[in-house]
Amino acid sequence: MFGDGARCVAVVGAQWGDEGKGKIIDVLAEQATIVARYQGGANAGHTVHVGEEEFILHLIPSGVLYPDVRCLLGNGVVLDPWTFLEERDALIERGLDLEGRVGISSRAHLVLPYHKQLDAAQESTRGGKAIGTTGRGIGPAYRDKAARIGLRVGDLADLTRCVDVVRQGTAAANSILASLEADVRVRPEEVLESLREVAPEILRLKTDVGAEIRSDISGAGRVLLEGAQGALLDIDHGTYPYVTSSSTTAGGAASGVGIGPTMIDEVLGVVKAYTTRVGNGPLPTELQGDEADRLRDLGGEFGATTGRPRRPGWFDGTVVRYAAGVNGLTALAVTKLDVLDSFDRIRLAFDYELAGRHFDGFPDAARDLARVTPIYETLPGWLTSTAEARRFPDLPDHARRYLRRIEEVAQTPIRYVSVGSARDQTIFLDARNAATV
Ligand code: GDP
Ligand code: IMO
Ligand code: MG
Repeated sequence: MFGDGARCVAVVGAQWGDEGKGKIIDVLAEQATIVARYQGGANAGHTVHVGEEEFILHLIPSGVLYPDVRCLLGNGVVLDPWTFLEERDALIERGLDLEGRVGISSRAHLVLPYHKQLDAAQESTRGGKAIGTTGRGIGPAYRDKAARIGLRVGDLADLTRCVDVVRQGTAAANSILASLEADVRVRPEEVLESLREVAPEILRLKTDVGAEIRSDISGAGRVLLEGAQGALLDIDHGTYPYVTSSSTTAGGAASGVGIGPTMIDEVLGVVKAYTTRVGNGPLPTELQGDEADRLRDLGGEFGATTGRPRRPGWFDGTVVRYAAGVNGLTALAVTKLDVLDSFDRIRLAFDYELAGRHFDGFPDAARDLARVTPIYETLPGWLTSTAEARRFPDLPDHARRYLRRIEEVAQTPIRYVSVGSARDQTIFLDARNAATV
């Protein structure tokens, strides 16, 4: 991507999250000067393998494993300061030098302990309609942001403001907790005390993320905007209400770091060669029984943040075509192709029917998405390992044919194919020909 002159690339999930964004961002970050998260919080779990080592990143951008990459958290992120410091310290303990390499927007909102308590209490009252959140306090933190009663990183320098906001926030939280008949209540003094402990460390990292990125791009910099979650979890474009509470799609990338949309040169959509979802909500190509277990086991499909089993399904072309539209994808990275190596037939959905008729576009209501019937085609498997492939022609014919079909149904060229979690298990395709070579 950067090789073709792009200065700023957004990398987004184009399914329901966990597409392998961490791995792809780590690979691309070798050429980057800055990697910046633009939304979401510690609900994300981005896994990166370097040699024998595995890193699971929740808040710190996936460029952190290269010593010269600056890692920024934009204004669109909701920052749990305690989780952040724990993650940072664990990385330092593993030998990473982070001094001067991590910056946090002064405008980023904080996830406070009562946001997590509210998240848990709300989920428990939803019963069968629970969203299946990660329990990281994300929804309540964004709600306070929108209600203009949130606390921002920059506010930590202003004790009077912290006291005011936390009093107001805890009062609002306690009234919701009471209405939900939850037996916990929050005490503003406790929240303020814990905030006092972390404030100096967080303030030390405070920066103007937008200004840093703009100045980097105007020099020789190369910036990656790191997506979290996926298009179908976007607050506007996802399967509402079974979504997260932020703008996960590329439109959110500009406002989430403080640059103009015209500065983003490319938008890379990461997709798995099949589909998974963790949490509740419709999933048209979902598999059940033995085939689901097999895909889950082969793909190691257990949540990086919560450890929950992910729900596997076949590749859904309608979903990715839709994600390509709402993100303006310029290319795809297809991950986990190797997971399909042992399947003798592979199904791919290219369209939907609803009530016996072809469905044009993508349903705007989760209840309709739950009722669609995917139209499948069956492709022959390749029944051989792809893990050693390093160039597109190294892949078996049937694997190439499958990838070409993904390009067609998604109406987007493939630029990267991943055949394992290691850095070198990545195939780079030519910009002009993509997978059609
Ligand atoms: P993210 O949230 O989008 O960064 O994805 P996760 O890290 O939550 O989940 C992706 C998982 O797949 C991680 O365990 C990765 O190490 C792993 N992974 C990524 N790419 C590949 C691949 O091409 N093949 C295999 N087998 N695993 C992969
Ligand atoms: P990464 O960045 C997969 C899902 C949750 C739940 C819904 C709302 O690793 O791809 P939330 O805690 O955000 O209020 O939960 O969104 N979810 C994710 N699913 N990958 C993620 O992040 C996710 N972040 C949130 O499971 O269904
Ligand atoms: Mg993940």
